[in-house]
Amino acid sequence: MGDAQHQGSAEGAAVITGAGSGIGAAVARRAAARGMPVVLADLSAERIEAVATAITDAGGDALTVPTDVADPDSVEALAEAAYARHERVGLLVNNAGVESLGSLWELPVDEWRRVMSVNIDGAFHGIRSFVPRMGADPGPSRVVVTTSVGGIGTLAGMGAYGVSKHAVQQMTETLHLECAQAFPQIGVSAFVPAHVTTRIFEDVAPSAHAGAAVDHWRTQLRQKGMTADEAARIFFDGVDRGDFWICTHPDVYSRLAGRRAQLLAEALPPDYG
Ligand SMILES: NC(=O)c1ccc[n+]([C@@H]2O[C@H](COP(=O)([O-])OP(=O)(O)OC[C@H]3O[C@@H](n4cnc5c(N)ncnc54)[C@H](O)[C@@H]3O)[C@@H](O)[C@H]2O)c1
Repeated sequence: MGDAQHQGSAEGAAVITGAGSGIGAAVARRAAARGMPVVLADLSAERIEAVATAITDAGGDALTVPTDVADPDSVEALAEAAYARHERVGLLVNNAGVESLGSLWELPVDEWRRVMSVNIDGAFHGIRSFVPRMGADPGPSRVVVTTSVGGIGTLAGMGAYGVSKHAVQQMTETLHLECAQAFPQIGVSAFVPAHVTTRIFEDVAPSAHAGAAVDHWRTQLRQKGMTADEAARIFFDGVDRGDFWICTHPDVYSRLAGRRAQLLAEALPPDYG
């Protein structure tokens, strides 16, 4: 952690969870390049230190706060550290997430709970600790939640992740409605990535329940993925427009959302992925 000197910035600081890698790290670098002080939160202290060093070497302002988003006290400590250092938070990015592969009946209970506690509870803890503070500030701010096209469609073999991303997508839509009523100065966005080349499948153990799917998905992201820096560019284009939906691959989003709407409207069983 950096020093506790209070720092002012009209736009406010950007707080990013899962900032040690992939999309979170790229969003942090881009926020810093735009002149925002950044607060980097991640389970891996080592990874956020490396991202912070690159940002400060480039002339930016970065504070690292090792955080477990699954733990409400840890996220509350993150909010305390962010507001001890900065007058205001202008951008909260609830981004930390983990992947999981395997049929529903094969998933170990601990694996199910790990995915739900990071992907769903993590975003909830971020909202609980930051939104009241951001709402007490009359200046404009934004909460972005990283969801997924997995929260729009349905894929066999990725049930725990899909359930978590449908839940967090719903949470983000609810937050949008609730902020519009209670804190109209807080904008809300769902950042919906499809394939982005990151290390997300590296933490998925190639165990019996995941089988060959781990290699398949690692290869998919390596070969078909957009770079995290490109995803971060799209992220800030959407933030600048004040969009609710910010999609890295609008074609994939439209196909999945369109098919889902049709299946729901016609009461048909799922057949898309
Ligand atoms: N990469 C993709 O193609 C893709 C597609 C759709 C959605 N997403 C979503 O994007 C977000 C970022 O993923 P990424 O692809 O950059 O993955 P990544 O693995 O490169 O980065 C995720 C970071 O989150 C951190 N993290 C994991 N658990 C944590 C916890 N409990 N507390 C704090 N930090 C924790 C990890 O240490 C890691 O640094 C995730 O929510 C993911 O579901 C990614």
